[in-house]
Amino acid sequence: MLKESVKDSAGIFYFPPRFIYHSKVEKHNTIKRTLLPEIEKHLEENADKIVNRWVSSNVISSYHFDETNGEMLFNNEELMNAIWEAFNECVFFLDDDAWANLTEISKTAVVRSMWYNKYKPGGNQEIHNHIPHHFSGIYYLENTGIVNTTWYNPDNYFPGGDYDHVSCDPNLIGPDTSMSKISEGYIVMFPGPLPHYVPEVKHDKTTITFNIDISGFSGY
Ligand SMILES: [Fe+2]
Repeated sequence: MLKESVKDSAGIFYFPPRFIYHSKVEKHNTIKRTLLPEIEKHLEENADKIVNRWVSSNVISSYHFDETNGEMLFNNEELMNAIWEAFNECVFFLDDDAWANLTEISKTAVVRSMWYNKYKPGGNQEIHNHIPHHFSGIYYLENTGIVNTTWYNPDNYFPGGDYDHVSCDPNLIGPDTSMSKISEGYIVMFPGPLPHYVPEVKHDKTTITFNIDISGFSGY
């Protein structure tokens, strides 16, 4: 994160903190009931426009074929409420743990972009990040199996060491942790620059991804 005063030729660069926040969406069933059929319909209507611009991923992402798809998501009041509830709690945790001081500036936050991703069994998504966005989030709208999104810790220069990556796999983080319970109906949020990928999925999976920016900062 960069904050600077051009006039005074001064500034400070903050390397983003590493975190993965998660919480259960209270009105998940209602959101899924309305949104999943809308997504299916949108996909059907746009079948001829579907493109995959990834290098090696097997996922249908509206990010790549319809810039207007966000309207359907932005217009869903309950989805937006769920996102803001999660964001506010995420900021609360970060500030409470003294990792950041975002309570005031987070009031300027905007959801910059939003899209959906559809996986069939065998689907996957290559490693990527969401630079230059400050916060990114994933809402697991439909996910019958384990959530297998995996995040890399770019601060760990020794692959294979402890926590060079993390996922919600109970074998990795322990079965009694809150994070190992992440499944359909959860939102996760993390810094936009944090690299992540989706290993091969074994079931149908639909996610909604979004980016949140706060003003006063430019990129990372
Ligand atoms: Fe992503």
